[in-house]
Amino acid sequence: MATNRTFTMIKPDAVAAGNIGAITKMIQEAGFKIIAMKMTKLSAERAGQFYAVHSERPFYNDLCSYMSSGAIVPMILEKDNAVEDFRTLIGATNPKEAAEGTIRNLFAESIEANAIHGSDSDDNAFIEGSFFFSGLEQY
Ligand code: CMP
Repeated sequence: MATNRTFTMIKPDAVAAGNIGAITKMIQEAGFKIIAMKMTKLSAERAGQFYAVHSERPFYNDLCSYMSSGAIVPMILEKDNAVEDFRTLIGATNPKEAAEGTIRNLFAESIEANAIHGSDSDDNAFIEGSFFFSGLEQY
């Protein structure tokens, strides 16, 4: 079922570089409404839980270390066709392949430190959003 919601988080590289404001501005100017937002920090264990789907990948341990290395900003966003439109806005996982003007093209440092996450399906948007926010039906 399409929920018109997606989940994102601004990652430690982009937070440390002072890009929360610039990225949030791009998100809002692209027509997304911010439904929930906070700044927090993951332990390596919680990062591992969030990215459990990648646990067999060679980059998993580095990814968990990186994602727990500094503050992050998770958000729930709302817009028609939210999941697909948001993935277009952020660009490809590898910033070298991200289209010009996308968030990763502008702000990502590397394929790992790639500035921002975007859910890849409605189901995962709900699962990932629920990882950080409770009572989503109240928004
Ligand atoms: P994200 O979209 O949050 O989903 C999984 C994350 O794993 C991805 O962004 C990157 O941060 C990281 N990742 C994916 N592929 C690689 C890779 N080949 N090497 C290192 N990190 C990766």
